[in-house]
Amino acid sequence: MNKVLGNEKYIFGGDYNPDQWLKMPEILEKDIELFKEAGVNCVSLAIFAWSKLEPTEGQYDFDWLEKIVNKLYENGISTILATPTAARPKWMVDKYPEVMRVNADRRRQLFGMRHNHCQTSKVYREKTAAIDRKLSERFKDNKAVILWHINNEYGGECYCETCQQAFRDWLKDRYKDIETLNDAWCTQFWSHTYLSFDQIEAPGIPENGEWAMNPLVINWKRFATYITIDFMKAEIAAVREGGSRAPVTTNFMYDFGGYNYKKFADEVDIVSWDNYSRWHKLPDIEIAYDTAFQHDFMRSIKKAPYLLMESCPTAVNWQSVSKLRCPGVLEAAGMQAIAHGSDSVQYFQMRQSRAGMEKFHGALIDHYGTNESRIYKECKSLGLRLDDMGNVAGGMVDAKVGFIYDRENIWGIEHSFGPRNKDMGIKGCTNKMYTAIRKQNVNVDVIDCEDSLDGYKLVIAPMLYMFRGGIEAKIKSFVENGGTVILTYWCGQVDEDDRTFLGKTPYGITDVLGLRHTEIDGLFDELVYHVEKTEEAPACFKSSYKYDKLCNLIEVSTARVLMNHGDDFYAGTPAVTVNEFGKGKAYFVGADLEQDFYLDLMSYVAAEAELQPYITGEIPFCVETSSRIIGTDGDAKEVVFLQNFSKEEVEISTDKYKGKLKAYETVLC
Ligand code: GLA
Ligand code: ZN
Repeated sequence: MNKVLGNEKYIFGGDYNPDQWLKMPEILEKDIELFKEAGVNCVSLAIFAWSKLEPTEGQYDFDWLEKIVNKLYENGISTILATPTAARPKWMVDKYPEVMRVNADRRRQLFGMRHNHCQTSKVYREKTAAIDRKLSERFKDNKAVILWHINNEYGGECYCETCQQAFRDWLKDRYKDIETLNDAWCTQFWSHTYLSFDQIEAPGIPENGEWAMNPLVINWKRFATYITIDFMKAEIAAVREGGSRAPVTTNFMYDFGGYNYKKFADEVDIVSWDNYSRWHKLPDIEIAYDTAFQHDFMRSIKKAPYLLMESCPTAVNWQSVSKLRCPGVLEAAGMQAIAHGSDSVQYFQMRQSRAGMEKFHGALIDHYGTNESRIYKECKSLGLRLDDMGNVAGGMVDAKVGFIYDRENIWGIEHSFGPRNKDMGIKGCTNKMYTAIRKQNVNVDVIDCEDSLDGYKLVIAPMLYMFRGGIEAKIKSFVENGGTVILTYWCGQVDEDDRTFLGKTPYGITDVLGLRHTEIDGLFDELVYHVEKTEEAPACFKSSYKYDKLCNLIEVSTARVLMNHGDDFYAGTPAVTVNEFGKGKAYFVGADLEQDFYLDLMSYVAAEAELQPYITGEIPFCVETSSRIIGTDGDAKEVVFLQNFSKEEVEISTDKYKGKLKAYETVLC
């Protein structure tokens, strides 16, 4: 059972907008029939329904919603009830234009679109609290409502004067006095010294205003995280005032760079996210690992089962090209979420809207409106499979590998200038390292600098440019006590305000690594360099590997050199090293090496660090494996998921399963 929601079975359903169909009751009837047939046991309601719930100011109409919630419940379908505050009615914007967001260019938005409210507007907070409270009063005792879906995909920032004042107050709280801020931000550079907090302006756009001052930009993003959480907390407080005790979530987005999602951990009862993987854009196994990483990240936010709140059963309508998903992908993508710790598979959307921007977005029920479509049939088959798995929700994923992917570090890398201003490649490097370690048939938690490293055997940190949260001390004691760490180029360069460390880098751990950085080279796009194996390298390493984008030059003290650079004036100097420190080991990878290198490195290190794979044997590259505890009661057991993310049938030969896997098939063993 999921401890937060109390569900025994995996949740299956998604976003449903009956408010768009109130004049066609026959559609609503039909939908329920089709939902039941497909094994749908939960829907998310009211996400953008504000204009139906409060048609004119202060006049609420929840009867239609209550009727639908109850009707669904009578048919075995629960509700995830949204606060409708991600889009707002026209009357509100006409009367209170200040509820709308001001863009970075300082122009206020007009009515329309969504996810674009001002986070500090007093009146928007009042209106939001009022409707949230009223909804909660109405539904507080309704057993159908199992979870609150607060707002929708919070995102972006508002640059209005009240938001900026809140930023200044937040800075004051963080730095206490302006001198401390000036020192931390090194504001004497280009004469940016502030005399008081009142002088601080939020970043602007390149044509107008300050946009290249990294500590300002990074702290603005920290503030955006803070003010969004503050807004969300106000919504949650209103729900609580209304009397509902049901748990809360808010739906996160794929690799969203706007906020530090980890900071939401303590404020939501369960994490949920919306997955819109671009299947078929690259080899599907690459997309699968990229998606798997997000699943692991979401689970690791609260180190607990989470929800897949939205995904698309087939093509979306907003990507540059909307490609249909070939048969089987729907099931594979849904099972992948379950494998990584989700207690749900949910879709946007249950029924395709008739008009509006999303009328051609994939859905369980299309405009034709029957159970005959390919997508409906595929959904149904997954719904029934999940149902068949029985009362198994709530199980966890056991991971002995901590993978550091720190959002604030990424802000630092992406907003800094040099050594490459286009594509520093952290995402690519992350994917290569993640894929390589997962290929060893072990699970991974995705953590950040503020997390503890306790309990892991191996810690991997691609491009950890910014050291914050005492990470250098944590790495040091982790290795000292027997852990293995793998660090890369562009590591330990700056503190949390993007101020460079003076002296030896990577800061605080040159003894752990047995080396120091001297220079970093940015490679022109057309350059592909290579590294060459030394006598110290493990036998399983190939004689050379390619790299591009970036490489570090280093000076070694106690580290052993495994690979040397093979090109340019630094040919013959160390590129990949390992150092014994205390009871553990610290590997250093000094260039943006190819996938093959990481596969060899991880296979060697996984064995050396004694990671216990959950399955062993012959598994083709296009198969992703994962393991999860299925169930929470006495008969809970660890189950291995084998997922073929390709159009070809493949052959598997392992200790737990021998046989074929059809295209996109998932086998549990
Ligand atoms: C987001 C939103 C949904 C919908 C989908 C479309 O995830 O939360 O309301 O617009 O995108 O893919
Ligand atoms: Zn604002």
